[in-house]
Amino acid sequence: MTALSVNINKFALVRNARGANVPDIINISKKCLRYGADGITVHPRPDERHAKFSDLLPLKKLVSEYENKEFNIEGYPSENFIEKVISVKPHQVTLVPDPPGALTSSFGWDCQKNKIFLTDVVKEFHNNKIRVSLFVNPSKETLENLDIIETDRVELYTYDYAHNFLKNKSEAIKSYVEVSQFIQSEFPEIEFNAGHDLNLENLNFFLESITNIKEVSIGHALICDTFEFGLEKTIKKYLEITSK
Ligand code: PXP
Repeated sequence: MTALSVNINKFALVRNARGANVPDIINISKKCLRYGADGITVHPRPDERHAKFSDLLPLKKLVSEYENKEFNIEGYPSENFIEKVISVKPHQVTLVPDPPGALTSSFGWDCQKNKIFLTDVVKEFHNNKIRVSLFVNPSKETLENLDIIETDRVELYTYDYAHNFLKNKSEAIKSYVEVSQFIQSEFPEIEFNAGHDLNLENLNFFLESITNIKEVSIGHALICDTFEFGLEKTIKKYLEITSK
């Protein structure tokens, strides 16, 4: 069974378009959790065009009202981000190497080049009892120092899988299976998350092919599906896949 964390950034984007509190992302998150989602994810970017840093504490309070549900904050570990995340203490922080103006996360960490930086940052979050996940590409060459960095989890960046899925799903999944087997044998204590461009069509095959994914965080496709099916039905559709 894989946990479903709903990334609510796009709801926040709609809210911000009019400068008021509609839709109310706390209310939407509450519904996601009531309908069975296992967690809420936000990615507060430096320009706060989606989730804002002021959203973090109310979201943490909301998620903490539920047993066994988790709050995950994603982002580039700038000084400001680290300070804000530590003050909120989510269950998990997912570190991404995005430059400040990035449209969306589009690559994973190079753990060789960023070994010292990531080791220090991970230690800081651990000192504050926050689980750390590192966003990574399905490429062994970038994963050299995972044991030294001491991350708890990696989040497999699934863009390539999702974009090649319709052409040839067996080819699309290959590098992910290889990398997950490599991590499992070299760094057996590290657990797996996955995310980016996962949807109702490609999620099942991914989870059948890599059976130990702890959590998927899904935003864009899930929110698009709510236009067609509504929030409750959409969450149930994703849960049917993640809870197999
Ligand atoms: N994981 C990370 C690190 C992300 O930046 C995003 C997008 O904010 C996601 C997962 C979710 O991707 P999507 O919105 O395509 O489902």
